[in-house]
Amino acid sequence: MDITTNYLGLSLKNPIVPSASPLSKNIDTAKKLEDAGAAALVMYSLFEEEMIEEAENLDFLMQGQSLGSAEAEMYLPVADCYKNCLDLYLEQLGKLKNELEIPVIASLNGITNGGWIEHARDIEQAGADALELNIYYIPTDITESGEQVEARYIDILKAVKKQVSIPVTCKLTSQFSSPGHFIKQLESAGADGVSLFNRFYQPDINLETLEIDPSLHLSSPYESLLRMHWIALLHGQTKLSIAATGGVHDVEAVIKLLMAGADITHLCSILLKEGPDVIIDILNGLTAWLTENEYESVSQLKGSVSKGKAINPIAFERVNYLQVLQGYSL
Ligand SMILES: Cc1cc2nc3c(=O)[nH]c(=O)nc-3n(C[C@H](O)[C@H](O)[C@H](O)COP(=O)(O)O)c2cc1C
Repeated sequence: MDITTNYLGLSLKNPIVPSASPLSKNIDTAKKLEDAGAAALVMYSLFEEEMIEEAENLDFLMQGQSLGSAEAEMYLPVADCYKNCLDLYLEQLGKLKNELEIPVIASLNGITNGGWIEHARDIEQAGADALELNIYYIPTDITESGEQVEARYIDILKAVKKQVSIPVTCKLTSQFSSPGHFIKQLESAGADGVSLFNRFYQPDINLETLEIDPSLHLSSPYESLLRMHWIALLHGQTKLSIAATGGVHDVEAVIKLLMAGADITHLCSILLKEGPDVIIDILNGLTAWLTENEYESVSQLKGSVSKGKAINPIAFERVNYLQVLQGYSL
């Protein structure tokens, strides 16, 4: 059975790729993911805010020195052995590249078109096979228009593309007024792929303290349906590689997302919950399903139930909404 797939110009042995998560912080865990069959690995993100905060702290320390306290000088970091978050990230990327045979996709995460973007080049030089750009932007200023928000993404993407020649994919939220139109704009601006969709981590109100609690709930399988819907709509309408991320917990979700048109499916929550061996089960299940249903390859499966090819394509449109609501029986 041919379960290979092409993603961002990379030839992958199968469509299962662990997405950005703390799992890539540990080399042994990364090895286990590879041994279980992962076709590539996305690293945890290097965040703009981390880099800026560190630069500001360092600046503050250096200025402290110039104020001239001999005692304070003793607390200054020793330049030669001081490693900032970028150094540590590049070091981990180098280790992953040395230890793993599968491609490693680095992840840059930020929201401004600032100096941090230049580090995309360092990431390429450290050996990343591709770069995922996560612009997790929450437009809290209600005077900012949708057009301005989209322009922010495009500007950052273009700036990153200027730094590197490796493929760049954008990890997006679903909350654009016209996701398909925006994805076509990213394509024109030079993106090589999109990863659909970011999950939002909504803050919660603590009823005892009345404070806002940041909360992280792992995903549920139901969330994969939003991804399936949009990937099915996009398939055949963009040249970009498409990764599905969010709610992929089992082989059924993988098959459906590939049928919708995904090139790869990302796993995160299920790996955090159950460990790397989930990948073995999914890959066995995928091969068994393809064989039983007389498919020859993953390529044959890809996009076979996208909007352009489905037997009842209008089910992806508003009419489905009407039928679902009106068909509910009490
Ligand atoms: C603990 C944790 C850490 C994560 N870290 C990152 C990260 O550093 N960068 C990123 O782009 N996404 C990160 N994600 C998001 C995941 O890569 C993934 O897109 C999301 O969890 C949806 O997939 P899932 O339903 O399989 O969990 C993280 C998710 C979790 C749960």
